[in-house]
Amino acid sequence: MPPNRRIRRSGHPAAAPAAGGAALPDVATAGPSDPPGGQLLPDTARLGEDGSLSVGGVELVSLAEEHGTPLFVYDEAHLRARCREALAAWGDGVAYATKAFLCLAMARLAHEEGMCLDVSTAGELHVALAAGVPGERLVLHGNNKSKDELRRGLEAGVGRIVVDSFDEVARLGAVTESLGPGRTFDRPKVLVRVTPGVEAHTHEFVRTGQEDTKFGFSVASGAAAQAVAALELMPGVELVGVHAHIGSQVFEASSFVQAAEVLGRFFAPLGLPELVVGGGLGVPYVNGESAPTMATWASSTLEAVRSAGVPDGTRVTAEPGRAVAAPAGMTLYRVGTVKALPGIRTYVAVDGGMSDNPRPVLYGSGYEAFLPRRTGAPRPLEVRVVGKHCESGDVLVARAHVPADLAVGDVLAVPVTGAYGYSMASNYNKVPRPAVVFVAEGRARVVVRRETLDDLLGLDR
Ligand code: LLP
Repeated sequence: MPPNRRIRRSGHPAAAPAAGGAALPDVATAGPSDPPGGQLLPDTARLGEDGSLSVGGVELVSLAEEHGTPLFVYDEAHLRARCREALAAWGDGVAYATKAFLCLAMARLAHEEGMCLDVSTAGELHVALAAGVPGERLVLHGNNKSKDELRRGLEAGVGRIVVDSFDEVARLGAVTESLGPGRTFDRPKVLVRVTPGVEAHTHEFVRTGQEDTKFGFSVASGAAAQAVAALELMPGVELVGVHAHIGSQVFEASSFVQAAEVLGRFFAPLGLPELVVGGGLGVPYVNGESAPTMATWASSTLEAVRSAGVPDGTRVTAEPGRAVAAPAGMTLYRVGTVKALPGIRTYVAVDGGMSDNPRPVLYGSGYEAFLPRRTGAPRPLEVRVVGKHCESGDVLVARAHVPADLAVGDVLAVPVTGAYGYSMASNYNKVPRPAVVFVAEGRARVVVRRETLDDLLGLDR
């Protein structure tokens, strides 16, 4: 085995030192036809002398041979490192937002690393509990929790419930009463979700802090103060704090700081012990992008809330999802057709598509694509990577740069698909969902098996 080269990933505290020279460029300064920036790949990514890429000590092309494609591959060490980083930055109570990526193995991993888990539906709650995460380490979210979801949460003894609407205040009152005197749980700790009126710099579909939103209670209109007053008077619950989440894939620390200032000013006079600033830390997806680190996000936000008058003993935490899971994961596809249209463009069709990654279609999200057999190679050819679904909009990478020798049969990797990829996957066109493998220390383990054609019939009666 030739010695593997570590990949430079400057700008990140977990940076592996360059050994034997920087093999991949820095993502912030890399151009579109350069190889993918080192920070787009998981922490344990290593280049072999022949350019082949391994993650967790497992060579990716062979992994695709063994497990088939499309395949979600997660670097377990990377996931663990980001959980620890979140804990170090925010302290106890910081929650992993399971909507980003959830399965039993992921729930266990986040719990083992000391994170709480944010669940926003009965389904996410069910998976987290099935993984053995104790109820008290869960935070129950959702803008329209049903009575059943609230009841399940209460019976599981969830650590926190984040209350989102006046209807929910009433519903929670009714459910806690209906579970009545013989109930087996303590008074649930609740937080009020407020909207600070801040427009985060991100896609409008994932922006949530502004006034015009379905989420939470507006600070500016006085609804947030009313909700606080109502919950303080409710005998069945214990109001412990305030929560806000301004949006996702936020690149500007200034958006978080602005929200933290509004939040801090609202929160400080209430004398409550907990403030949660939500998730939303962005990650680079393509060359030329960069994002604040977990530590910078935390320190600038904490500074803003302190200067807004939030006292020192307050538990201030957050709920990162994407920043934990996104760059830990990548998707391996097999190239099935290459269609060159002279003067127009070249279409490269792979064996997945919008069913395993709807983000490009939903948000116009950009991704890189590369050949894991030649990871560090220049990528002079611009192509459109598309899936196998029956519509023209089924685009995975609208403007992908790839090595000129890309051919039918190649394994094509799309990095940074660890968040909101598998979790938003569908069976459109009755395409079975891919398998998910965790790689670590030279071993791959299937944590979610590939769906079979028979699974597709599982619900039919
Ligand atoms: N907390 C709350 C209350 C949230 O609603 C979310 C995400 C998070 C935390 C975690 O945010 P993160 O750190 O992952 O940005 N499907 C979209 C993202 C939707 C985010 C929904 N809420 C996407 O693929 O970009």
